Order: sequence, then C-alpha cells, then structure tokens
Amino acid sequence: MSPGFKVQLHLALLWMVILQGRGRYIEQNEIIDDVFGMLNSELKRELSEDYIYRRSLKCIDMLSLDGQFTFTADRPQLNCATFFISSPDEIITIEYNYVNIDCQGGDFLKVFDGWILRGEKFPSTIDHLLPLAERYIDFCDGSGTKTVFRSSQNVAMLFFRIHMPGNGFSLTVTKLINPFPCNVISQTPDGRFTMVIPHQKRNCSFSIIYPVEIKLSDLSLGHFNNLHLKIPITSCSGATDFIELLGGNKLDPSRMYPVADICYSFSGPAQMKVGCDNTVVRMVSSGKYINRLTFEYRQLSPRELEKPNRNSVEDFCYTDD
Ligand SMILES: *[C@@H]1O[C@H](CO)[C@@H](O)[C@H](O)[C@H]1NC(C)=O
Repeated sequence: MSPGFKVQLHLALLWMVILQGRGRYIEQNEIIDDVFGMLNSELKRELSEDYIYRRSLKCIDMLSLDGQFTFTADRPQLNCATFFISSPDEIITIEYNYVNIDCQGGDFLKVFDGWILRGEKFPSTIDHLLPLAERYIDFCDGSGTKTVFRSSQNVAMLFFRIHMPGNGFSLTVTKLINPFPCNVISQTPDGRFTMVIPHQKRNCSFSIIYPVEIKLSDLSLGHFNNLHLKIPITSCSGATDFIELLGGNKLDPSRMYPVADICYSFSGPAQMKVGCDNTVVRMVSSGKYINRLTFEYRQLSPRELEKPNRNSVEDFCYTDD
C-alpha cells in the first residue's frame, strides 16, 4: 500500500469526524487534533511495515493493517473508538489477547459489526443480516467467553471506556477472504468492483466516501436477460431486482437520496457524476436470480466540484454543503 492510499483513508475519517461535528465521540476539539496526529503517524509507519506489526492505539484511531494493537489508558478515557477497514473482499477478525478493564466500575469494551457515527450505521439496519442488538458484542455482558469477533463486511468498530489509568487491553487483527462481499465501504477514492448476489434474498450496498464519477457496466438482473426491450422503462416501481444509485452527506445508505434506479440489464457503460460526500451503489435482490453489476469509480477533482452541471440529478449534493 502506498502512502497516498493511507492519506486518503485518513481523510475519509477526517471527513466523517468533521461531518458529524457534534458527535458524541468528538465533542472536544482535541480529538480533531488527534486525527491529524493519526494521519502523520500512519504515514511514518507505512515506511517500516515488514513483520508482525505492533503499535499502541489512540483513543480515536483507524486501523487498516493486520497486527497487534494495545491500548493503555494514561488518564480516564471515556469516549474512545477504533475504526477498522480492510479490502472490499475481506472480513476482519478481532481477537482479544488480554483485557484489563473494570466492568463493574463502568468501563466497557464493545465491538460493532460495521461503522456507526451519531446513530448512522453502515451497513444500514435494513441491509444487515443481523438485528441491531446482535451487531454489538459487549465484553462486559457476562457471556464474555467469546473472545474472537468476526465482522460481516470489510468494516468494524470498537468502542471503549476506561476509567483507571494503567488499565487497557490488547487485540490482534487479521483478515479473511470473503468470496461474496455484500456491504462494503471503499478504502480508496478510485477503484473497480463487481457486485454479485447469487440467488439470495438480500440487499447489498457499496459505499464510496468521496464525490465520484461512477461508470456502471455489465448489469445483469436475471429476469430481463433474454429479452430485447423496446419499450423505454420510465419507472422501476414494481421491480423486485434493481440497482439504486444513492448520494448524500450521511453514512447510512437508508438515509441517502436516490440519484438513479436501474431495473433492466444492460452492458453499458452508463456514467454519472455524484457530487456528494458519500455515493452508494445498492443492489436489491429477490433471490430468484443471479444479479451482477460491475462499476468503476474515480474521485471528482476540486474543479469538477466547483462547476456543478445545473439541471442535473446531482444538484442536491452541491447545494447541501
Ligand atoms: C431489499 O430492499 C427492498 C427495497 O428497498 C425491500 O423492499 C426488501 O424488503 C429488502 N429485502 C431484504 C431481504 O431486506
């Protein structure tokens, strides 16, 4: 991974921290400073990444590499969070090596299956296979025999609160290959991805936390595959299998605006610019077909963002600063 890649990743976090300005975890300005510090230290670390990587965690931190990570409170740390992210086709496992916290005294250590900021979740509650309560694994809830957590997608989070200086925990992060990634947050502002839902009744969202130009191609939605459509389709209402392109300045796909719906197969390409902070490609699948879509995306340059194309669908994001 190049240093440039790291910068982008941390800018994504920075974006979210600023976006959620009044968030519970970022009420103090010092945490914003922490994010800048994080950016710098991650860059330095990138240069010397050979063997099992070990480092200490900060109260607010982001991890994208395998390794062993340790947090030790130097003072009461009440609102800490670690963001984990991996490649789209990976899931993340988190294993506690040791935990030394005071559950009775109000400390906690919780893993969340996804990312969550101010109640906004990725994947959204409607797209995750588990009910919300089961997406949290609380070390302190007594059933703490389970020390290995496995995420459902390429992002996960850890929340913790530790009152007593000197207390802390250590964990090991590893990645596993996920042959059918469903919900994904892109690690990079540019990329290419093929989403496949093979005969499953579920919906998948691919989120790109940048304003992008997105090029869709090779969409196949089972039901219209062998049909030559002559009538133009004006609405997707009634379709059971379709693609939604969403834009917005939120993390949660269920709270974003529809930019386009596509409910017929085509080989494409179809190209669109979405000038929003977050762009989501969502596939809705009835389970009757093998649905597949390939798309490429690239970040819009500041210049492209300056000159919004009036009368276009993406106007709402340019104005919704
Ligand atoms: C998928 O999304 C559609 C439309 O948003 C919804 O009607 C359907 O219930 C969802 N399916 C599942 C399995 O969540």
